[in-house]
Amino acid sequence: MDLGIRGRTAIVCASSQGLGLACARALAEAGVSLIINGRRRMQLEATAAEIRAATGTEVTPVVADVSTPEGQAALLAACPAPDILINNNGGPPFRDFRELDRAAMLTGLTMNMLTPIELIQRVIDGMAGKGFGRIVNITSVSVKMPLTGLDLSSGARAGLTAFVAGVARQVAGRNVTINNLLPGSFDTDRLRNGFAAAAQRTGAAKDTLAANARANIPAKRFGNPQELGQTCAFLCSVHAGYLTGQNILLDGGAYPAAF
Ligand SMILES: NC(=O)c1ccc[n+]([C@@H]2O[C@H](COP(=O)([O-])OP(=O)(O)OC[C@H]3O[C@@H](n4cnc5c(N)ncnc54)[C@H](OP(=O)(O)O)[C@@H]3O)[C@@H](O)[C@H]2O)c1
Repeated sequence: MDLGIRGRTAIVCASSQGLGLACARALAEAGVSLIINGRRRMQLEATAAEIRAATGTEVTPVVADVSTPEGQAALLAACPAPDILINNNGGPPFRDFRELDRAAMLTGLTMNMLTPIELIQRVIDGMAGKGFGRIVNITSVSVKMPLTGLDLSSGARAGLTAFVAGVARQVAGRNVTINNLLPGSFDTDRLRNGFAAAAQRTGAAKDTLAANARANIPAKRFGNPQELGQTCAFLCSVHAGYLTGQNILLDGGAYPAAF
C-alpha cells in the first residue's frame, strides 16, 4: 500500500533501537525523511547509517535526552516544522510502588507524560497551519491493564492518554490526528533486560520466565517490533486521516476484554 506520505518529515523520539527504531524504519520505507534520536552517539549514528543504506531516505541523528528542554530544543532545531511526531522515550524501571520517592515519581511523569505533551505543544500549530499532521504516542498496555512494578509508567501514560484525548478533538478539523499505540510484550532490549532483572530477583532462569510470559499471551509469542513500526506508519498515512484520539492495543490478545 502506498501510504501517501513520501516527502514528509518526521521526528521520531528515542529511536536508536527497539520500538522507536521500528517506527523510524517503517516511515523511512514509506519515503519519509527522518530526525532520529537517542542519548548514545555511536548507537544512534550506526542506526542512521543503517536506515539510510536500507531505504535511501534522509536521516538526521540528534543526540539528546528528549526528556530535557535542551534535548527538545535540539530536535526542533533540526526540524522546526515536522509533519509527523512519534513520541517515545525510555520507561521507568520496574519498582515496587512503595520504593518511589517524589523525585523518582517526578522523573517518571516527566519522561512518559510531560515530555510528549511539551513536544506536541511545540509542533501542533505548525501541523494545523498546513492542514496535515500525524502524532503517535507510544504508551503501553499498562494504561489499560495493571502490571506489577510498573505503576508509575501506567499512571504517567494514563495521564498522557487523558490529556491528548481532548487535544486530538481540537485539531481533528485541521487533518491533524493524535493516536496512542499500546504495546504489550515486544522483543526488544527492554523486555529482555526485564527478564534478566526478574531472574536476578527471583533466582528463576530468565529463559523460563520468558517462556512462561510467552505462554500467557494468546498469540503464544512476543511481538516483533516491525509489527508495531508498520502499524505506526499506517497511523501516519493519508489513509488514517479519520482515525484520531484512539488507543490501539498491539498485544497478541493479552488484554482479556472486548472493550
Ligand atoms: N518492549 C515492550 O514490550 C514494551 C511494552 C510496553 C511499553 N514499552 C515502552 O516503549 C518504549 C520503548 O521501549 P523499547 O522496548 O523500544 O526500549 P529499548 O529497546 O530499551 O529502546 C529504548 C530507546 O529509547 C532511547 N532512549 C531512552 N531514553 C531516552 C531519552 N531520555 N532520550 C532519548 N532517547 C532515549 C534509547 O537510546 P539511548 O539509550 O541511547 O538513549 C533506545 O533507542 C519504552 O517507554 C517502554 O517502556 C515497551
